[in-house]
Formats: sequence, C-alpha cells, structure tokens
Amino acid sequence: MLKGKEIVLGVTGGIAAYKAVELLRLLTKAGANVRVVMTANAMEFIAPLTFQTLSMNPVHTDMFNLISEREISHISLADRADILVIAPATASVIGKIAAGIADDLLSTTVMATRAPVLLAPAMNVNMYQNPLYRENVEKLRRHGFLFVEPVKGMLACGWEGEGKLQDPVFIFEEIVAALSVKDLAGEQVLITAGPTREEIDPVRFLSNHSSGKMGYALAMAAFRRGAAVTLISGPTCLDDPYGVETVRVVTAEEMRSAVLGYFGKSSIAIMTAAVADYRPMTRSGEKIKKKDATNTLQLVKNPDILAELGVMKEDRLLAGFAAETDNLQENAGEKLRRKNLDMIVANDVSSEGAGFAVDTNVVKLLFRDGTVEDLPMMLKSELADIILDRMLYLQRRRDA
Ligand code: PMT
Repeated sequence: MLKGKEIVLGVTGGIAAYKAVELLRLLTKAGANVRVVMTANAMEFIAPLTFQTLSMNPVHTDMFNLISEREISHISLADRADILVIAPATASVIGKIAAGIADDLLSTTVMATRAPVLLAPAMNVNMYQNPLYRENVEKLRRHGFLFVEPVKGMLACGWEGEGKLQDPVFIFEEIVAALSVKDLAGEQVLITAGPTREEIDPVRFLSNHSSGKMGYALAMAAFRRGAAVTLISGPTCLDDPYGVETVRVVTAEEMRSAVLGYFGKSSIAIMTAAVADYRPMTRSGEKIKKKDATNTLQLVKNPDILAELGVMKEDRLLAGFAAETDNLQENAGEKLRRKNLDMIVANDVSSEGAGFAVDTNVVKLLFRDGTVEDLPMMLKSELADIILDRMLYLQRRRDA
C-alpha cells in the first residue's frame, strides 16, 4: 500500500512517544521506507535504538550530522520525503512550527520540506484547550498542514479529557489517505456491507457467512480517495472504518430504511451486503421449545433494496454484487439488467480464495454494454480500488 514511499517520522517528547513505535511498524509493514527524526526530549522517553532496529535506518537526532559527505541532514530528509509525520506532536513543536522557528533538526526539516506535513498532537487537556494552541493549529491548517486530532481519555498527567494521541492505526489511515490521489473528492459514496440477521426467536436467527470485509475495504478505499462515505453495515466483528460514517443495522428492513435515508444525497452507491432474501413470517417472543421431531419455519420475502434503488437511481451510479455458486455470468447478468445497475461484481463464492470471510476475492465485472472483465485473485483492498476506478470511468464516460 505504501510501497516505495519515503516517510519522515518525527517523534517529540511526550509520554505517547512509545506509540510511535507501533506507527513505525505499521508503516514499514505497508512497504514504506521510514526515516525517524527524534527531538532531544523524545530521547528522554524512548531510546533511538528501538526506532533504528524497526526502521532499518539510522535515527536522526542531530542537526549538524552529515548523512554523507555532501548531504546535509535536514535538507536531504526534507527533499526525499513524500510525507512528514510528527507523532506525537507536542504543543511546543506545534507552536514552533506555527511561529516559523527552525532551531533543531525536526523543526528545520519541517521548514525545508515541500511534502505534506501531518501532525498528530498529544498533550494535557488544558494545553489542548489553550487559546494560544488553538490559534497555532488554525494558522497551520490555513497553511495546509494536516492534523489527526487527539481523542478523549485518561491522560498520563492524571487529567481526563482531550489530548490523548489518536490510535496509531488511525494515524496510519490518515497517512495513507494523505498520500492517495483524491479522485473521489466531492463524491458522496454509499456502501452496504455484511450480512443481515432475521430473528426467529430471542436466541436464534437466519443469516449468512458475510464478514463485512469486502464492503469495509470499499468504504476505506473511497475515504482515502477523498469521498464522503456512508457505510450501512449489518452485524460484523469489524471496527468502524476510520473517516467513514458508519450506520449499524441488524435486519434487512432496517438496512432498507437506512439505505433509503442516505441514497438521495449519494452520487455513487455500491451494495456489497449479503441481505437475507427471506425472514421468518413471525418472530416468537419466547424461545421456541423442542417438541416434535420436525418443525416448519414459514418465511416471507424481504424487500429487494438494490432493485428499489435501481428504480430511483436517476443519474446516480449504482453497482451491486452477485454471490453465486453456479452459472455465475448468466445469473449476475440477469441481476444487472433486472436491478437497473451500471455494474455488477460477479462473485463465485464457491471458488477458493473468493467470497465470504476471506481477505481475497475472485470476481468478474459485468457492465451494461455487455463488457465483462475477468479479474484474477487479489486482496479485497486491491479489488476495492479497481471497483472504484471503474465507477469513476463510467461517470466520466457518462459526463463526456
Ligand atoms: O462480507 P465478506 O465476508 O467480505 O463477503 C463478501 C460477499 C461475498 C458478501 C460479497 O462479495 C458479495 O458477493 N455480496 C453480495 C451478496 C448477495 O447477497 O448477493 P445476491 O446475489 O443475493 O444479491 C445481489 C445484490 O442485491 C447484492 O448487491 C445485494 O446487496 C442486493 N440485495 C439482495 C437481496 C435483497 N433483499 N436486497 C438487496 O439489496
């Protein structure tokens, strides 16, 4: 995801400095080459050796060290960087940058870079609410600096409130988003994910194996690419994706009303959810007792949400998925036409590495003009970007 990216990670002196280790691990795992710059205060909290070992690069601490015979540290770091991240960023370093002070390696590198700078503040709640700090943040935002806001929590100083460093996973997401092309800026993307659950009685339900992974991957990719994203999710074990408005529902009828509530303002909608086609005709208020050798459950059809959207779609772009175990192309093609879609992702859920609950998928993309694109097995995160690419292509072709 970050293969070939050069990232400068600045670490300043705060108790959250140890969390920068986790961030560094996420960045290197994603393929980035990370060069760590530590302030003198940061080294009071954590040893440079930890960062050196994990980054496999020397840690930069000194303004007057030459990287090679010709290269001056701060200029070389500033020039090479695709992004400069400071996590944790103290009130002091933020104040310094806002005032244009460059008196150590980190602040000088910030001053000298043309790359985007992302600041992840962490401090005491009173410092965080201090009007001088707020003014500095406003000023830096006006100049294009990016921020990952801290969260509320128990702070190391004993106070409770805002000022706790954001989770490194979310800082990582912001870095990926900052480095992504914003080709979906201005789009309102609506995505459904996961299964629905249809209750039989207080302890039993009808559902399916959808984990939500495919839909969540789409939501995350759309957010990174600049869209405002709403994810309507059935019950899953996944955390709400960072930056995405996530609405949790349980039944198909709940999913329908949530989807209809958001569809009006959407420009692109992609329905990944495995919606239960049927629900029990009645829900027993008490646990159904085991009596006879056999029992019959009467089912009624659930509304077909996607088909309803197809009727209302106007100039919105609409895509669905088709989970099939046989006659993949024919069945998916029939759904594409009947539900009035621009594209359908045909998913042979019986094939290895495809469909429910795995990290990969194998699909064919079917379009209205009869074109079929056969894709090899890939990560759901990679497929998500291809699906969004095709939606954008269809939009541009329509608007041309
Ligand atoms: O969540 P994962 O574990 O990552 O798995 C991903 C997935 C297998 C669920 C996903 O890739 C997939 O194939 N989703 C579609 C599942 C499905 O319900 O397919 P379908 O052929 O039954 O439905 C066709 C389309 O109509 C789907 O877009 C579905 O969201 C929609 N639908 C279906 C029934 C219904 N009552 N209302 C609907 O809107």
